[in-house]
Amino acid sequence: MSAAGRLLVTGASGFVGGNVVARAGLEWEVHAVSRRAVAGAPPDVAWHVADIGDPATLHALFEHVRPTAVIHGAAAADIDWCGRNRAEAWRINVGITAGLAELCAAGRARLVHMSTDNVFDGKRGMLTEADEPNPVNYYGETKLEAERAVASMVPAHVIARLALVVGLPAFGEGNSFLSRMRAAWEEGRTVVMPDEEVRSPVDVVTLSRALLHLANGTFTGVLHLPGADRLDRVTMARRIAARLGYRADQVVARKPDPSPDRSDRPLDVSMSGTLAAAILPTPLPGLDAGLDLVLAEARNPP
Ligand SMILES: NC(=O)c1ccc[n+]([C@@H]2O[C@H](COP(=O)([O-])OP(=O)(O)OC[C@H]3O[C@@H](n4cnc5c(N)ncnc54)[C@H](OP(=O)(O)O)[C@@H]3O)[C@@H](O)[C@H]2O)c1
Repeated sequence: MSAAGRLLVTGASGFVGGNVVARAGLEWEVHAVSRRAVAGAPPDVAWHVADIGDPATLHALFEHVRPTAVIHGAAAADIDWCGRNRAEAWRINVGITAGLAELCAAGRARLVHMSTDNVFDGKRGMLTEADEPNPVNYYGETKLEAERAVASMVPAHVIARLALVVGLPAFGEGNSFLSRMRAAWEEGRTVVMPDEEVRSPVDVVTLSRALLHLANGTFTGVLHLPGADRLDRVTMARRIAARLGYRADQVVARKPDPSPDRSDRPLDVSMSGTLAAAILPTPLPGLDAGLDLVLAEARNPP
């Protein structure tokens, strides 16, 4: 067994989970699980293609790996999809998390659970860990209920509330808005952004390192993981466009058309990184420095 022990990463084919796996390094014996096989995974990672939505499969995987720590990134992370597919979203976001929490508690594994700024209603920004969640969309409701399952069942847990994550998937596709925006700009299209939504975007490189640090640490409880900037989405997208060499007018400020298929979004869910700064060895950078990291690592994969 490696120095830090056995690490199980769920949602490893996804955007954040894949970046965690790509950076886990030799400190851990890394086990990754996803329903889809991926191309380009590091050769020293044990990749398990399995559906952890099936409780018996999850149990068997856990027995096989016997993890020291779990970083849980498997989720239905598309806000609108969750609003349209409520029962399935609950099963994935709450059911799988609760099953995993039970196994972590029984196996004395540490659980780092990826949650979201969308547990807040967005009426007031720069939210701290002491602020009361109150989700405005169904995705946020499922993520809040998952947080409760983790907190109530697992003694050694971290509820890591991720801000909007900026970066590129390490393997395959994944839920990266940067990839989607870049594809649109590359084809000469514009992207529409609501300027009333305020976020504190965090880069996926620093975020992945932070999650790995937390998996091997002693902190227990809720921790916000935002970047250092508080920005509306239009300003954010225009700064990204400029950094990538696209035109500012390829970002159009407009509220999305109302649609029964679109879930509400909280307005200002910027988060305070004060606690994270006290716990993590690396500061969480602002957008420009975070983008530099993302682009540097895209040229030189870890
Ligand atoms: N991206 C962001 O900006 C952001 C912001 C805040 C919080 N988060 C949170 O961060 C976590 C990771 O998000 P992400 O952006 O990396 O999402 P993602 O790219 O969509 O990855 C999620 C992963 O979950 C797995 N998954 C989906 N449905 C599943 C099911 N029914 N059973 C088992 N696995 C399933 C998928 O893997 P397979 O289909 O291969 O199994 C997928 O790789 C989520 O908890 C999300 O709520 C993300």
